[in-house]
Amino acid sequence: MNVIEMKNVSKSFPGTKAVDSVDFYLKEGEILSLLGENGAGKTTLMKILYGMHHMDSGEIWFKGKPVQIEKPSDAIDLGICMVHQHFMLVSAFTVADNIIAGCEPCNGIFVDRKQEYRAVEELIEKFHFGIDPYAKVGTLSVGEQQRVEILKTLYRKAEVIILDEPTAVLTPHEVDDLFAVLDDLRKSGKSVVIITHKLKETKAIADRVMVLRDGKMIRDDVDPRKSSFNELSDMMVGRHVELGVVDRTKRTGDVILSIRDLCLEEKGHVLLQNIDLDIHSGEILGLAGIEGNGQSQLLECITGLRTPQTMTVMIDGKPVSGGPREFLLSGLAHIPEDRNAMGLVSTMSISDNLILGYQDTPAFSQHGLLRQQRIQQQAQELREEFQIKAPDIQTKVGALSGGNAQKVVTARALSQRPKVLIVAQPTRGVDVGASEYIRARIRQLRDEGAAVLLVSADLDEIMQLSDRIAVIYEGKIVYETPADVLSDVELGMLMTGGSPEDLKGAAHRHA
Ligand SMILES: Nc1ncnc2c1ncn2[C@@H]1O[C@H](COP(=O)(O)OP(=O)(O)O)[C@@H](O)[C@H]1O
Ligand SMILES: [Mg+2]
Repeated sequence: MNVIEMKNVSKSFPGTKAVDSVDFYLKEGEILSLLGENGAGKTTLMKILYGMHHMDSGEIWFKGKPVQIEKPSDAIDLGICMVHQHFMLVSAFTVADNIIAGCEPCNGIFVDRKQEYRAVEELIEKFHFGIDPYAKVGTLSVGEQQRVEILKTLYRKAEVIILDEPTAVLTPHEVDDLFAVLDDLRKSGKSVVIITHKLKETKAIADRVMVLRDGKMIRDDVDPRKSSFNELSDMMVGRHVELGVVDRTKRTGDVILSIRDLCLEEKGHVLLQNIDLDIHSGEILGLAGIEGNGQSQLLECITGLRTPQTMTVMIDGKPVSGGPREFLLSGLAHIPEDRNAMGLVSTMSISDNLILGYQDTPAFSQHGLLRQQRIQQQAQELREEFQIKAPDIQTKVGALSGGNAQKVVTARALSQRPKVLIVAQPTRGVDVGASEYIRARIRQLRDEGAAVLLVSADLDEIMQLSDRIAVIYEGKIVYETPADVLSDVELGMLMTGGSPEDLKGAAHRHA
């Protein structure tokens, strides 16, 4: 039976038709993957169902009857709950109090809570959440906090649970835990919608796949077990994309980037401890780590944005010190992790952004004047080469989509033919098609002899792109290995503080 049917639903925002005449259905006891690229309309469609957006036209049916959902409390009353990407928990409260809060009868906080606590305990047990109901939420991992959000929906007697990109913040191990919980939910007859653009997860957990593209429902009946990654990706993107190309280095040369004894302290806290790294010509070194283990600070130090207590950097055998300008002039290019804060000026044009930082190099400036013709010509060429989708090169970068903005940052860095490329989160928020293109260009630069340091929170990206992998944990490099040696589960373990000795057990478990 269909718990939910949405019929001919449309919703526009100024300038965009986010959801375009979509028919949607959800069956009892199924896990549906709502798959689509960024901007496809997935979140908007589900926020309509949850009462956070109003549709312009269309109908929602719940268990065979038309319903009006004006606000989230209407949805919750029907048993429809949504877990957002950003959690809404009070970290000073316990798990149980977070779950009960906002859901209690009017007699406020002085009620005898025994019964409520018991109900929370029972839920945790029934669905194997593995969380202590009396732990403070602030002490929980991200994965556990997410499960608290799911518990909240169950406590509110949800029958339909919508998860918006739930795995974006999780390690591989936490993803396994989440999927075990989803499996229990399915067994107990609940219906789950998981919004994602990750094909691997779709195949791992979903019973059925719906594909949205440009606000339209492309397919609603895809069997993930019978579809290949490439078939799913082609439906999502609307054209053929060669996926997951792994192409390890063929030839490495001398050490081009050498970092020695990088130590960084701030207010008595050790942020980076005795970091030594060597990257050879023709090699991509992937730095794997959960965000917040020092990788941002490492990037700042080795691009000249921050001066650590101790550090020796050599590029191509020559010592480098000073600020960003000195590093840049030594042949180091940087694709920063936050393209909006550090990479681009959104109020400036594509062509100006493409030379930002390089405007006073001889290529673009002569006798103190910008060589406008040269700059415009190069911008034209780069726009074509990198397939930056924009009306023209005078378009303000702020008007570009995430993928196209990232292409501008990438084009700028690569067009300088750097000896060293430092690249952070190169495809975060970028569509499948553009991601594969950006990765191919990074490999090309490597094959031309550059040394590349890749920092990414996306483990699949690290494994796909790196020739060698170093793991950073609490400001230290705890492991270094050629790529292809470790599985993602083993890497995930090292990233969360597991020791190399634990690896044998993990390999065994997953054999
Ligand atoms: N609150 C909003 N205001 C204006 N435009 C929006 C809003 N939310 C989403 N959009 C636009 O609607 C389209 C679909 O967005 P969204 O539903 O978030 O896609 P998805 O979740 O698939 O990435 C995009 O073009 C996005 O820019
Ligand atoms: Mg979304």
